Amino acid sequence: MRNIFLIGFMGVGKSTIAYHLQSILNADVVEMDHFIAKQQKMSIAEIFEKFGESYFRDLESNLLLDIRKKQGLIVSCGGGIVIREENIGYMKQSGVIVLLSALPETIYERVKDSKERPILNGNMNIAYIAKLQEKRRALYEAAADITIATDQKDIHTICEEIIAAIQKELH
Ligand code: S3P
Repeated sequence: MRNIFLIGFMGVGKSTIAYHLQSILNADVVEMDHFIAKQQKMSIAEIFEKFGESYFRDLESNLLLDIRKKQGLIVSCGGGIVIREENIGYMKQSGVIVLLSALPETIYERVKDSKERPILNGNMNIAYIAKLQEKRRALYEAAADITIATDQKDIHTICEEIIAAIQKELH
């Protein structure tokens, strides 16, 4: 089985969907932020604070290089994974890329109390989320093999849509 990479903006539900897909597909999950935080023995916010964003982006790319050697994983990527173009190549080499999308209002509701999203520090509002989403939109869309809108859908429906789209994509 090819890897399944879940990409999309912060708060679209990548991790939640990854763990639900795990229970359906019986595959291992790599939650990239969790993996990196555990590996560095630091939270993502601390990594950004101590070493800066580009250091964190290096850690993300290195992890993707390891993942591309494996098969059958469900990978929940950090929201900024598409910023580095080479990352998209690493994902395409071993899997299918599923973009989860949501409206800025939905995202704001999901992330507004988070202290673990340094990219939104001091900018936790719908206007900023919409602006950053717009800035990244072309990158997400160019990377995606499959796109699934998540607004007002329950987890099970989203997972069913993903599985059906992947089956279609692979045939
Ligand atoms: C980021 C998203 C975060 C995390 C880091 C940077 C981004 O992941 O990797 O804070 O640039 O969009 P989530 O999408 O899981 O919140």
